[in-house]
Amino acid sequence: MSTRVSTAEDGPGGGTAYDAVVVGGGLIGLVTAWRAAGRGLRTAVADPRPGGGAALVAAGMLAAVTELHHGEERLLEPALASAARWPDFAAELAEVTGTDVGHRSCGTLQVALDADDRAQLRESQLLQERHGLGTRWLTGRECRRLEPMLAPGVRGGLRVDGDHQADPRRLVAALLTACERAGVTLHRSAAVRLTVAGDRATGVVLADGTRLVAERTVLAGGSRSGELAGVPPGVAVPVRPVKGQILRLRMPRARPPFLSRTVRAVVRGEQVYLVPRVSGELVLGATVEERGWDTEVTAGGVYGLLRDAHELLPGLTELPLVEARAGLRPVSPDNAPLLGPTALPGLLLATGHGRNGVLLAPLTGDALADTLTTGELPGEARPFAARRFSRDHREVPV
Ligand code: GLY
Repeated sequence: MSTRVSTAEDGPGGGTAYDAVVVGGGLIGLVTAWRAAGRGLRTAVADPRPGGGAALVAAGMLAAVTELHHGEERLLEPALASAARWPDFAAELAEVTGTDVGHRSCGTLQVALDADDRAQLRESQLLQERHGLGTRWLTGRECRRLEPMLAPGVRGGLRVDGDHQADPRRLVAALLTACERAGVTLHRSAAVRLTVAGDRATGVVLADGTRLVAERTVLAGGSRSGELAGVPPGVAVPVRPVKGQILRLRMPRARPPFLSRTVRAVVRGEQVYLVPRVSGELVLGATVEERGWDTEVTAGGVYGLLRDAHELLPGLTELPLVEARAGLRPVSPDNAPLLGPTALPGLLLATGHGRNGVLLAPLTGDALADTLTTGELPGEARPFAARRFSRDHREVPV
């Protein structure tokens, strides 16, 4: 295959190319590219279908508190920092693109159906309190006062007023427009190989033969981030796909609304959540399955989601079922993202966001833009340093 060299600024002998090439045009790749271009970097994105990826399936919960789990406490601070950035982030995107990304300060209600769920929820409350998070315990009756469609069997719940939502599909569309307006070059072809010269990454070769030369290459390919050929063995990209099946239903236009805030619960050990949008869409998710690259929607997956959600909101089975889909979360060994420099100078990661990609998008964009311009991952993103899984942890130049 012949190779063309595509450069943003062709100088003599091929010249410098891009300051940054981002491999992957999903949510994380686009937010990285947008923020990088905003810092004046000549930026390109390589993706055959930019604007796709896991975000098209995601529910969009901004759940810094209700996704806090034992053993994952280091996620909390950056998650709260990113949540705090969301209102300005959404407003900026609306101003730049004219798209409302569906950021809605609706809060979340975490409910319990039986004594076991209740004990587990009390544990969550203790964990939240230990971290200074203000949540409030409600009786079953108080839960139903907030959300009258909840089942009589709901025995109590936690009111979490800081966990909100955004619409990931609108978000990705807005970011694509924002990238175009910021001058990001979109190469609609897959990156197939990293190029390395000496001990430095120098860009990528695309499936159509084009070679993109770049000072820095950011791997932001979601669960496929580990698949790029040419990445040296000492550079760890430990990300795997974790399947999630998710449903979309349509709520009636009614007052009071069918559901006014996100409701979530653990039913028979499985997490279930319901995210109501202003548009009338009700997102019901999601399975968590270790099934490699399988994205099949299964009868069992749909049945389990509807069965569990029906226990929370019996009226739900009357609603039209609009969509059933499966996506792949990009998950790292410790469930936290992989951000910033790797053991190979010139190669950075922005992947591994697992269940929290939408929440962490503002922080990720800022952190990667900082790293690309200053050479260092900012302090707030350090818990996510990509090099934590590399054999060689030494600082290397970015
Ligand atoms: N963020 C929720 C999920 O991954 O299902």
